[in-house]
Amino acid sequence: MNILLVGAGGREHALAWKLAQSPHCTKVFVAPGNAGTAQIATNLPIGISDFDAIGKACISHNIKLVIVGPEEPLVKGIVDFFNANTALQHIQMIGPNKKAAQMEGSKSFAKAFMNRHHIPTAVYKKFDSNNYAEGLTYIQQHSLPVVLKADGLAAGKGVLICHNHIEALAEYELMIQQNKFGAAGNTLIVEAFLTGIEMSVFALTDGEHYVMLPEAKDYKKVGEGDTGLNTGGMGAISPVPFLTDELQSKIRTQIVIPTIDGLKQDNIDYKGVLFIGLIIEDGSPKVIEYNCRFGDPETEVVIPRIKNDLIELFNALHEKRLHEVVIEVNPQTAAAVVAVSGGYPGSYTKQQPIAGLNDLQASESLIFHAGTALSSDGSVETNGGRVLVATSFGKDINEAVQKSTEALSHISFEGINFRTDIGYEFY
Ligand code: AMP
Ligand code: GLY
Repeated sequence: MNILLVGAGGREHALAWKLAQSPHCTKVFVAPGNAGTAQIATNLPIGISDFDAIGKACISHNIKLVIVGPEEPLVKGIVDFFNANTALQHIQMIGPNKKAAQMEGSKSFAKAFMNRHHIPTAVYKKFDSNNYAEGLTYIQQHSLPVVLKADGLAAGKGVLICHNHIEALAEYELMIQQNKFGAAGNTLIVEAFLTGIEMSVFALTDGEHYVMLPEAKDYKKVGEGDTGLNTGGMGAISPVPFLTDELQSKIRTQIVIPTIDGLKQDNIDYKGVLFIGLIIEDGSPKVIEYNCRFGDPETEVVIPRIKNDLIELFNALHEKRLHEVVIEVNPQTAAAVVAVSGGYPGSYTKQQPIAGLNDLQASESLIFHAGTALSSDGSVETNGGRVLVATSFGKDINEAVQKSTEALSHISFEGINFRTDIGYEFY
């Protein structure tokens, strides 16, 4: 079968790499893709939210399966668009519809869902211009730090952790009255700060049944030792060493099962990956966020560990047979290290030549492209903040990370930066 992947990052390169290994796969297309996906698939110059063009490409390339990588098209309703179009209805869509994608697209929707279904999460209140004054008082009386979250999608920047009330009140005003995050921040939630260690779990659900994919922990801070600014992700590990059987069972019974059951009770037809970001506070898991898609760079460690045929897995999802599936996982540790452009997550330049990729052809590390593009002469150049991801397996985290950083040491581009200490707490 022919398959279309929507997206252009390391996540999509990892998914394309895995899909291409399936005997059921005829051809993979990626819209718009990057220089890495161009090596193993056919890139289509189509934007991720250009539903008309994506639909037309599906018809002209006889696509039978569409996997949507990023949240934006899901939250904007790409699945509903396909389901409402008679020429596209037969195509299997991997990703939730617009209503179900609200689990990520609206923080207040997700928080109300969690409260309704008694799923542990930080205490919160929702504010907008209608209860603006009440919010000022609520913040002034809130313990510190206090967390402000834009309700809608804000390109990963919508969460503010404020360490004093003056800063929190100023940010609150900027969001509701000065449109700091546009419409996405005109409604916001104010919530309690949770302390503990973070990790993420991934449920693949057909709306009726679910299977758990391998868990992961990502590293968002740009600097070694988790210092500096937040990024889209500087690396990830899987498995997560502190995930004991006891914790795993708490996550299932207190969070995953109530979430899947809650979706059913609320008539939210959720099909696809449900990414659950957790903080483990004193041994108790609490939800920080739901995402309606695979994570990036989590996918670059999760997907290589899965032994199952991905197309068979997605077919089972489409046919509501996920209860028949057993996920087989490589027990080795996978570590992904992300090489970023100089200046990232602040301003950085693009279209910088990337040298050294040929040296890695014999490397045992997997090299996934993120922000790369092919230049007019066919060479590979930078095209974003996160540029390349090296994923390696090892007997432990230390060994896996060392292999990834060694691989990246062969690469050079303007200001290249990567963390050498991903998973450092567990060395
Ligand atoms: P999000 O955009 O929801 O993933 O949040 C970004 C990051 O902010 C998370 O990965 C956490 O590190 C942090 N965070 C979000 N909510 C809380 C909270 N209630 N308490 C502590 N940290 C939080
Ligand atoms: N790495 C976090 C995310 O994909 O949202």
